[in-house]
Amino acid sequence: MNGNATKEGFTLWMTGLPGSGKSTLAGVLKTKLENEHGMRVEILDGDEVRKGLSRDLGLSREDREEHAWRVSFVSKLLARNGVVSIVALISPYRTSRESAKQVIGPERFLEVYVKASLAVCEMRDPKGLYAKARKGEITNMTGIQDPYEEPTDADIVVETEKGGPDASAALVIQELQRRRKL
Ligand SMILES: Nc1ncnc2c1ncn2[C@@H]1O[C@H](COP(=O)(O)OP(=O)(O)OP(=O)(O)O)[C@@H](O)[C@H]1O
Ligand SMILES: [Mg+2]
Repeated sequence: MNGNATKEGFTLWMTGLPGSGKSTLAGVLKTKLENEHGMRVEILDGDEVRKGLSRDLGLSREDREEHAWRVSFVSKLLARNGVVSIVALISPYRTSRESAKQVIGPERFLEVYVKASLAVCEMRDPKGLYAKARKGEITNMTGIQDPYEEPTDADIVVETEKGGPDASAALVIQELQRRRKL
């Protein structure tokens, strides 16, 4: 604990291919930020948001952009109330990540590229969606039928093929400390 009650909130916007590790990393980071750094943290996970706030949206480009916009709006409200939000959202389009940055405020927004190759993500296939996409049972799968626009200027790049979730979380924490966010 180091008395972060007075610190402003910020957003860790985690983008990456399905299976790259966004949700896993978000969970580990939340625990660390709460228990070791005294932060208040909320996870905005794409899958969860799609069950509620975005339940009317599909997977078209337009709907993915709307989904990201809604998440950025909630994230902005949290940040201005001192809450750290960890967004775990594929957010495949560069333009929607850029607009999230503008909605939230560039000084409170960190883009985290949760990076793993398509081959590794497909091998992990934690939800079995790549297999379904290859069989044509689902369409609009990011990385298979739909594009993923890699970040070119992410604030933090976490290569999840190079270490487990704890090592990845430690790297993010180190970077946050370096930037005086913690
Ligand atoms: N360094 C790491 N960080 C996070 N996950 C990792 C790491 N190394 C291996 N993994 C594994 O990769 C898988 C990532 O799955 P996860 O559900 O977190 O992906 P996701 O990016 O949230 O996918 P989706 O976009 O489909 O929700 C898990 O099985 C996790 O254990
Ligand atoms: Mg996930």
